[in-house]
Amino acid sequence: MYTIIDGRKTAAEIRKEIAGEVLKLKNEGKKIPHLAAILVGDDPSSQTYVANKVKDCEEVGFHSTLIRYEKDTPEAVLLEKIADLNNDSDIDGFIVQLPLPAHISENKVIESIDPSKDADGFHPVNLGRMVIGLPGFIPATPFGIIELIRRYQIETSGKKCVVLGRSNIVGRPVSILLSQKGMDATVTVAHSRTKNLPDIIKESDIVIAALGSPGFVKAGMVKEGAVIIDVGTTRIPAPGTKSGFRLSGDVDFENVAPRCSFITPVPGGVGPMTRVSLLRNTLLAAKMKR
Ligand code: GUN
Repeated sequence: MYTIIDGRKTAAEIRKEIAGEVLKLKNEGKKIPHLAAILVGDDPSSQTYVANKVKDCEEVGFHSTLIRYEKDTPEAVLLEKIADLNNDSDIDGFIVQLPLPAHISENKVIESIDPSKDADGFHPVNLGRMVIGLPGFIPATPFGIIELIRRYQIETSGKKCVVLGRSNIVGRPVSILLSQKGMDATVTVAHSRTKNLPDIIKESDIVIAALGSPGFVKAGMVKEGAVIIDVGTTRIPAPGTKSGFRLSGDVDFENVAPRCSFITPVPGGVGPMTRVSLLRNTLLAAKMKR
């Protein structure tokens, strides 16, 4: 028998905890956390992500501000807005939704964010702090994955773990967190140039799939009793459905699940935890300011 890791339920529990903290701040006459989000362009996934982030803020009682720009907005305009937010004492934390249009340098944008307001934890200062185990903002998806592992009491110490994908947002940071003291996993980061990938997956106790390749991980690749964390969220056209698409993870869930001890579904696994992690970082940013 396998356990489906319920990210929706876990995220709802954490939102309740955060709402309780907001109430406490209110009762003490303190300022309520305020998150701003910048969205450039009209990428459908990004629009949904940002709308959900704003909705989450409302649910826990945070203030939120959504700032939208056309997709042809010059980089300088965006950098100027970021400088304003850095200097705005009412804003505790903010994010710039990625990906950005090709004419805007993502690195330049990330580096222009004040590290103390970097609710995404993407700034080199925060990534560096994470690497050497100092407190700070941890990128939302890795933070959410670690929290699921913790709350489901999944053993990581001494376990072989493979992370599929080496993105700055998910693969690389989660591989670092899992290898740190306290998590103590033995981690392999696999990517497009990795040789013998099926063999590496087959000997892994924990598989974190963050490729964006629908159904990539098949039942035959997986070790009996493995823990599977699926980060994939690819939109697949689904005519006749209300949205016109369905979300597909990187794991062939139906066939892989019976071989596992724990597995996250898509949707309803890692996604809700990513959202709630941003709230946790925003609360941390607000608390650090005081
Ligand atoms: N694009 C995909 N995931 C993320 C995220 O966690 N934060 C931001 N800002 N953009 C993203």
